Amino acid sequence: MDIKIVATEAEGGNLALEMVKEQLKQNPAATFGLATGSSPLAFYQALTNSDLDFTQATSINLDEYVGINENNEQSYHYFMKKNLFNKKPFKNNYLPNGMATDLKAETQRYDQIIADNPIDLQILGIGRNGHIGFNEPGTPFNSGTHVVDLTESTIEANARFFDNEDEVPRKAISMGLGSIQKSKKIILFAYGEAKAQAIKGCIAGPVTTHVPASILQNLNDVTIILDAAAAKLLNDK
Ligand code: GLP
Repeated sequence: MDIKIVATEAEGGNLALEMVKEQLKQNPAATFGLATGSSPLAFYQALTNSDLDFTQATSINLDEYVGINENNEQSYHYFMKKNLFNKKPFKNNYLPNGMATDLKAETQRYDQIIADNPIDLQILGIGRNGHIGFNEPGTPFNSGTHVVDLTESTIEANARFFDNEDEVPRKAISMGLGSIQKSKKIILFAYGEAKAQAIKGCIAGPVTTHVPASILQNLNDVTIILDAAAAKLLNDK
């Protein structure tokens, strides 16, 4: 794992921007796995301010809430359009459809999309409980796309984006840990003290399904971009 401690989220965003540049230089039709949440925001800002061209590239998002429409401001579809896609057009943008009537069929459709478009560079944030995407603690490491019951800790953490906690959806569709592991490269962003425990488990703890992000220790090409607060519980090495 390559661990980079940055002073600001803007610095983290710029570091990742350089890796995206490299990727597009090698292959303008690369596939990017994308994440929502506050952690990748500075990165998306860096992408939108750059002159990079994504018109041949494909994006595949990690997850979407079940039961909220894509025009709802809290949906991940809306987030991605607002923060990236409206400013940087891609050839294809894939996200799970949280309004699908047959959710099982939707998970299969999504797995096929991932199989057809192997992910070159996957962007991740991390939940306070160590989740990546919406792969909550206990999710099998070989999982494909699945419907998730969100944990209380995730519902509480994500309530800040809603008028009140009751409005936070209880279910989501998430790309599985098996698919995330197949990405050729991964960048994970974590900022702030609330992520320190999860980062310790991700980087320095045992590889265990109790901390889904700990699976990243088994992979070849992972860059973790942190600020000092998120790195606080790591020993200096
Ligand atoms: C959500 C998303 C994750 C994200 C996490 C952390 O639950 N499903 O993909 O990484 O929250 O979000 P934030 O970056 O806002 O702390």
